[in-house]
Parts: sequence; C-alpha cells; structure tokens
Amino acid sequence: MVAKTVVIIPTFNERESLPIQIDGVRAASPDVDILVVDDGSPDGTGEWADQRAEDDDHVFVLHRSSKQGLGAAYLAGFAWGLEREYDVLVEMDADGSHQAKQLPSLLEHAGKYSLVIGSRWVPGGSVVNWPTRRKWLSTGANTYVGLALGIGVKDATAGYRAYTADALRGLDLASVESQGYCFQVDMCWRVIRNGGTVREVPIEFVEREFGTSKMSGDIIQEALVKVTQWGAKHRWEQVTGALGRKNGASQGG
Ligand code: GDD
Ligand code: MN
Repeated sequence: MVAKTVVIIPTFNERESLPIQIDGVRAASPDVDILVVDDGSPDGTGEWADQRAEDDDHVFVLHRSSKQGLGAAYLAGFAWGLEREYDVLVEMDADGSHQAKQLPSLLEHAGKYSLVIGSRWVPGGSVVNWPTRRKWLSTGANTYVGLALGIGVKDATAGYRAYTADALRGLDLASVESQGYCFQVDMCWRVIRNGGTVREVPIEFVEREFGTSKMSGDIIQEALVKVTQWGAKHRWEQVTGALGRKNGASQGG
C-alpha cells in the first residue's frame, strides 16, 4: 500500500517563494498532496495559493485570519490532514530551504518511524548560505536541547520532517502551546516521551533567496524558557521516580 501523504507548508508573506516550492514538490513526488496554511499574508500569498488550488487537485489551502505562529499553523494543518485520513504528514518551509528534491529521501523512511527528521547536523547534512550567527544559534540551540532534555536527536529544531498519522494521533495536540520554532522541539520531545521512534536523515538546508525569515527575539526567548522548563520538569520526575522506587523497594524488603 502506498502511504497517503500530505506536505503541509505554513506561509506568511511567501509570494515569491511558494510557487517555486510547490512546483518542486509536485515534480519530486507527484503523488503527494500539498496543504498551504496561510496566516492572512498581506503580500497575497493566500490568494495565489487559492488560484493554484483551483488548477491543481493535489493542492489545498487553509486560511487563518492573522499571524499566529508556526506552531498554531501546523496544528491546524495536522487536524486537517488527520481528518482526511492521510497516513504521513510532512512539515516543510515555503522558502526553498527545505529542498523538494530531498523529499523522496525523507519519504523513504516515513511510516517506518514515528518521526523522520531532515537533519542539518548529522553526517552528510549541511547548511548553505547561512550567516555564522544563524549557524551558531542552531547548533547552540540543539546542544542546549540535547543537554536539557537528554535526547540524542542532533537537529531537534529542524522543520523538515515527516510524522506518521498514528504518532500524531497518540499525542495530546490540544495541549501544545508552543507558538514559534520551539514547536519543533516540543513535538520531537512529545513523540519520544510517548515511546515513538525518531530517525534523522541528512539534508542540505539552503538559505532562502526571496523574502525574509520570521525568526525573532521573542521566538528565541520562548524556546529558551520552554526547553529549560521541560528539562527541569523531566529531571525532577527522574529524581522523584528514582526516590519512589527506592522507598518502594525498602518497604518491600
Ligand atoms: N502560517 C504561518 N504563520 N507561517 C509561518 C509563521 C506564522 O506565524 N511564521 C513562519 N512561518 C512560515 C514561513 O512563511 C516559512 O514558510 C516557514 O514558516 C519557516 O519560516 P522562516 O522564517 O523561513 O524560518 P527560518 O528559516 O528562520 O527557520 C528555519 O529554521 C528553524 C530553526 O532551525 C525553519 O526551518 C524552522 O522551521 C526551524 O525551526
Ligand atoms: Mn527560512
């Protein structure tokens, strides 16, 4: 059976990039569907996507009234995809950083693991045209995530990834509060805590040619605060769990 797959592309002001990205996906993996989740982009991205959806029955659009963050856009996209019984749900940026030609290498493993991550920081992975500042931010963030949460994932902030529908159905998505890019870490952490499997495949991440990044100080701060909280809670649970076992054992024997 061929897995029914939807690629979810969140957009905010991606009018120049989105057409190239959609053409790329249609060419690389003609059987997959595409869902654009547009947050009312003032530059007309949503209107363009509607037009494209009219001409192409593999393309769909979800409109949201205002910019509410990457996390909220993906949650809306997941709900849409799960309702329509897709087996695999893919996350992809609109701006060309996630190369459509590498989609087949993600899909090769999708379905066999709860989560397949297109990783910049495993052997064979790379980043092209990123300023040194962004490289340090990403490697620093991933090092911090690894230390705080004790997970072995090398690129937990990565946004090119494929979930199985089962993995998503197993999570309490209504409780996900992360708005910015820490949504990616949040989801990865939830999959692992739920007993799911993660596989990283190397990708070449290429910095966008058109438009601008939506990365901001608020997004960095949200990630730092949340990862620290999750890590502290996790360590606390490990300590209280170990103490509980110790007490239980001494009472028993
Ligand atoms: N609908 C919607 N709403 N889309 C959004 C929003 C939002 O509030 N914020 C960002 N996006 C979309 C962008 O339009 C783009 O398609 C994608 O999300 C990624 O945004 P960028 O602004 O291009 O992200 P980046 O290149 O700085 O960050 C990349 O690296 C991060 C850190 O590793 C992305 O791959 C992130 O996913 C990743 O976490
Ligand atoms: Mn980008």
